[in-house]
Amino acid sequence: MSQTKSAPGRLAGEIPYEGLVPCRAGLEDLVAQEMRDLGITVDRVGRRAVFFQSNKAGIYRMNMALRTGLNVLIPIRTFNARNYDMLYYQSRKTNWHKLFSVDKTIRIDVNGGSNTLNHSEYVVHRVKDGIVDTFRKLCDGVRPSINKRNPDVHVVVHLDETEVTLALDTSGAPLFKRGYRTRHGGAPLKEDLAAAILMLSEWNGNQPLLDPMCGSGTFLFEGWMIATRRAPNLDRCFAFQSHFDYDPALHEAEREKLRKAEMVTQPNLRLSGYERDAETQQIAREILVENFPEAAIHIEKRDFREPAPRTSGHFVVTNPPYGHRLGSPAQAEELHRDLGEFLKKRCPDSTAAVFSANRPALKSLDVQPDKVWTLYNGALEGRLLRFTV
Ligand SMILES: C[S@@+](CC[C@H](N)C(=O)[O-])C[C@H]1O[C@@H](n2cnc3c(N)ncnc32)[C@H](O)[C@@H]1O
Repeated sequence: MSQTKSAPGRLAGEIPYEGLVPCRAGLEDLVAQEMRDLGITVDRVGRRAVFFQSNKAGIYRMNMALRTGLNVLIPIRTFNARNYDMLYYQSRKTNWHKLFSVDKTIRIDVNGGSNTLNHSEYVVHRVKDGIVDTFRKLCDGVRPSINKRNPDVHVVVHLDETEVTLALDTSGAPLFKRGYRTRHGGAPLKEDLAAAILMLSEWNGNQPLLDPMCGSGTFLFEGWMIATRRAPNLDRCFAFQSHFDYDPALHEAEREKLRKAEMVTQPNLRLSGYERDAETQQIAREILVENFPEAAIHIEKRDFREPAPRTSGHFVVTNPPYGHRLGSPAQAEELHRDLGEFLKKRCPDSTAAVFSANRPALKSLDVQPDKVWTLYNGALEGRLLRFTV
């Protein structure tokens, strides 16, 4: 029989919770710092994940306030499974009925890797069978349904060869889904990556911010929330609300604390974006009006190469088209060159942060960065360059 670690001592609902926050490669230290700032005990910074201990209030706080983590996972149990029957057996042995009720819908996802359990759909299938059979036996044949699009409960199966960890995702939809971006232009940045770029390059709201190719405005909206200390997911729904141990009063109390920490006004805070595509600019403006009506954000339909007054002392942040999804590599190179010229001629005494996954094109900026980070936009490896102009 396979060995089980951590059962039943790690069942969600017990305090302290031990868990992990997965993130993009290269953002681990930033996520760990965000967690510490939220009063969470960081146990270990791993590869694409930060491990923590926290109480329930901390789980709620992280979900509402983390800008750069992807979700908050609580492992339920870890065991060895050398085949799919063992996987089913261990899933069947898990006290799912103590975690959520039979009327909740579920979704199961697999991450990590295994040479033995190498068919991810079958892994999902066997874990699902284990969950369903646990409930069927205890609930007169009634079982939870599967809902892939909008589940109440999200189970994550992490595989490390034959070591399997079953975890509850307390977030549900990933935390970059803040809810404000219901529409977008071509090639938008994910919200967690945009926030990370601003935080790594140390924009703190003291300099006016300009994105000369703002697309759907992600830097502007994330920047506004960073500068006003607004928790990005304050009013979102989370999977933890479907767990048995959900404490609505505690959730509300944590929300209220975060709300109080917000800075309602930030004198001289100004954020501007240019976007040359009329439809994309319109989308950005609609997001602004619907979600950030109070924000000092100005979005103009403009090509940054058009003549305009100089904008000195700004923080310029942008993510030009790489020439993969938008435009051709040659166009991307030309655009990066024009961006370099724009920064030098029109943005004196400014700091700039440019993120691009087109490295030859980045060279055409012709600048001396004071710091460079390697970051990933999905599978694309990119560089973030920060420099003074
Ligand atoms: C990669 S997207 C930026 C995505 C943006 N960061 C977001 O999250 O939505 C690049 C944007 O630059 C715009 N663009 C390209 N050339 C431009 C130019 N010369 N002036 C202004 N906008 C430009 C494109 O229309 C596109 O929306």
